[in-house]
Amino acid sequence: MRHPLVAGNWKMHGTRASVAELIEGLSRQALPAGVEVAVFPSCLHIAQVVRGLDGKRVAVGAQDCAVESAPGALTGEVAASQLQDAGCSLVLVGHSERRLILGDSDADVTRKFAAAQSCGLTPVLCVGETLEQREAEQTLEVVGRQLAEVIDALGIDAFAKAVVAYEPVWAIGTGLTASPEQAQQVHAAIRAQLAGQDAQVAAGVKILYGGSVKAANAAELFGMPDIDGGLVGGASLNADEFGAICRAAGN
Ligand code: PGA
Repeated sequence: MRHPLVAGNWKMHGTRASVAELIEGLSRQALPAGVEVAVFPSCLHIAQVVRGLDGKRVAVGAQDCAVESAPGALTGEVAASQLQDAGCSLVLVGHSERRLILGDSDADVTRKFAAAQSCGLTPVLCVGETLEQREAEQTLEVVGRQLAEVIDALGIDAFAKAVVAYEPVWAIGTGLTASPEQAQQVHAAIRAQLAGQDAQVAAGVKILYGGSVKAANAAELFGMPDIDGGLVGGASLNADEFGAICRAAGN
């Protein structure tokens, strides 16, 4: 039985004041039992959010981590062990903004995934195709390759404690959403690829959909059999909207 997870990716947004407001708004939300909820503030605001949501049923994650798990000489980076120490329980790895804008390679993503797990953090592995790749009908191949990189390097057992997020790049921050059927097709392919190695692991992995999820489209996406919740960007910056998305996952 997979419990849904709704995760809010705050990206490079927030000030101390706006984060305090968001914490306050989240604290007021009625969150459905059986739905896991997590937020991913910028590194700068993790401590504030961990403190502010103490005692609430909202986990805190980071948006990225260093390829090295231990602290050391790596200027500007944050180690998974430091994130764990700060109160994080999850970390995004391989978000398309990091892959496409900041140059994270598949090998970097795999190292970050391993670093996260070695510190007890749950990695949320983001995969997804660009518009060009979708139009060239390469979606399943691209996503399959991104997933295979990690499976081949770390083994299928690494997915016993990991989350996968399918985020079509063309749907991120664009207002365009994959249709529930389009998303389901990719989610089913991801699960089948994992099942090819271990059916039990595949059945337990949460696969989130991300890309312009909002309260108005969440229920129909989350209604699909292989969609286990969402990774929500823009809409997660509004506590009421995010709360409504969490409630949609509970229905
Ligand atoms: P969006 O972002 O919901 O603003 O499209 C999703 C994401 O990038 O995780």
